[in-house]
Amino acid sequence: MIDHDAVPPAEDITRFYQPELARVIGKWQMTEMMVLLRLQPASGERLDHAPGQFLQISLPGYGEAPISFCSSPTQTDSFELCVQSVGNLSEALHDLRPGDFVGVRGPYGHGFPVEDMRGRDVLIVAGGIGIAPLRSLINYMADRRRDFGRVIIVYGARNPSERLFVEDVEAWDARDDFETWFTVDEPDETWTGMTGVVTVPLREVEIDPARTTAAVVGPPVMYRYVAMELLNKQMAEDDILFSLERRFKCGMGKCGHCQLNDLYVCQDGPVFRYTQLIGRTEAIEVWAPDEQKG
Ligand SMILES: Cc1cc2nc3c(=O)[nH]c(=O)nc-3n(C[C@H](O)[C@H](O)[C@H](O)COP(=O)(O)OP(=O)(O)OC[C@H]3O[C@@H](n4cnc5c(N)ncnc54)[C@H](O)[C@@H]3O)c2cc1C
Ligand code: FES
Repeated sequence: MIDHDAVPPAEDITRFYQPELARVIGKWQMTEMMVLLRLQPASGERLDHAPGQFLQISLPGYGEAPISFCSSPTQTDSFELCVQSVGNLSEALHDLRPGDFVGVRGPYGHGFPVEDMRGRDVLIVAGGIGIAPLRSLINYMADRRRDFGRVIIVYGARNPSERLFVEDVEAWDARDDFETWFTVDEPDETWTGMTGVVTVPLREVEIDPARTTAAVVGPPVMYRYVAMELLNKQMAEDDILFSLERRFKCGMGKCGHCQLNDLYVCQDGPVFRYTQLIGRTEAIEVWAPDEQKG
């Protein structure tokens, strides 16, 4: 819920929208549509984000957009963003070269509640580009491994060539203390893994529902079916976390562009507990409890 008391006096408000400069120090083309940017604040100060938070990135003449952090906060000298080329700004971000500058403001929003997740098993469910914010959480847990119980990763991509962070994925797969399940919707001749949407491996994963927190990020259509699977596994609604995407403008609870009933997705989210979303039919295609019996 928005905190109106937090609105600063009018003369101060512009500083909240003022981006700071960050320099591109690395760039990798991950797939045809996706680029990974490594950035460093020009001030030399850390942004200190939490997994699941986002920042507003801008280029003069092209605009500003929210992008999730995809690096772990344990990576302290820089941060990474994974950008899909979809429009004016993101295409321009794809043209950046090391040494170029962008504007950034943030971090913003509520990320994954990592403190509440300590000691618990964590089930990651990623679909498509949803692996980007979840990579931040997975690599955080890798660096703080003793703080968490089982780490189970279920990642689905449309086809093998659209899989992101392939090196990370191989590193997670090679660890004895991570359990990994990878699937693609449309296999090709190179693919030897599972085939089908993300709920196919998810159905096979065995969990202790009382000690598991699920972190789910993917296309909105996925949420309904993933929620059904997790509730069928007797998970509590409060232990299921979804990250939502909406059109953002200010990114910090001032303009109302992202409003979902009484929630400001940018400020109250983007990570929400499923309990917070039930009854807000606009949020995700919310699953109706009667369907569980089918
Ligand atoms: C919390 C959050 C985190 C995000 N994280 C990432 C990320 O890690 N990587 C990434 O590539 N993108 C991410 N996005 C989406 C990104 O902000 C948009 O794609 C952005 O608008 C691109 O700007 P543009 O000027 O290139 O394209 P635009 O011209 O703004 O949009 C191009 C097309 O995409 C559609 N679109 C734009 N934003 C959204 C949206 N939020 N939901 C649905 N459709 C949209 C537009 O309707 C249009 O058809 C995130 C969005 C949110 C809200
Ligand atoms: S984007 Fe402005 S209130 Fe959320």
